Amino acid sequence: MSLRVLVLDTAADVARHVAGRFLHLLRRPCVLGLATGSTTLPIYARLVEAHRAGRASFRHMTTFNLDEYVGLVPGHPASFVRFMREALFDHVDIDPARVHLLDSAVPDPAAEAERYERAIRTAGGIDLQLLGIGANGHIGFNEPGSALSSRTRCVTLAPSTRDANRHFFDSEPVPRQALTMGIATILDAREIMLAATGPSKARAVACAVDGPITPECPASALQAHAAATIVCDREAVAGLDHPRSNGAPCATS
Ligand code: GLP
Repeated sequence: MSLRVLVLDTAADVARHVAGRFLHLLRRPCVLGLATGSTTLPIYARLVEAHRAGRASFRHMTTFNLDEYVGLVPGHPASFVRFMREALFDHVDIDPARVHLLDSAVPDPAAEAERYERAIRTAGGIDLQLLGIGANGHIGFNEPGSALSSRTRCVTLAPSTRDANRHFFDSEPVPRQALTMGIATILDAREIMLAATGPSKARAVACAVDGPITPECPASALQAHAAATIVCDREAVAGLDHPRSNGAPCATS
């Protein structure tokens, strides 16, 4: 297995590349796994731009979002459902019936997690899963220590993750729990693209690419996937052991 690392100059280049892959898949019905976070915003902005320019239709796209906080009132400004509406869904011709999000307001999160896994299977699995990365190496909300065999479930957020996401919450406390696709759920996707930009991600990217596959760095699990690419800007690869040239595939194991 090999983990491809694509190094581009800037965050804008990363967004252009990832959006380009999405636009390619959108030419036919597809199932896309979506992520939230600041890194994804310029990617979604490019997709909206393509739609407005008449270059993309989202009518036949089915989506599954990675995760959602537990305990927020429906429609909370920091919820991921709101994030997705504002970043993408409200601006394109997506079919609401094809949009899937984890509902963290349900009384039984375990049943909701099972429902989600079933819905992904019923849709035929995910063609391309988009990921960001936490500064601690998390993917989705799979924090360090998450089993590599984990599936969709309720998790407790690491204090550093709650700190990193505090700016989305004004003065309110950041939730302590979330529902997230598991690491094994993510690895079931036929293709994975992880976008990482900026110096705050350099350590996490180095652990994911150069380190061993370990629950301590959930993103390192991508090394075991047959078609995973980390798309980074130059700042995000500053911690890698070996310098890499643009687009060079890097065997990591
Ligand atoms: C949250 C999300 C992750 C995302 C991470 C990085 O924790 N659950 O899916 O990868 O944020 O976010 P950002 O791009 O804002 O650094």
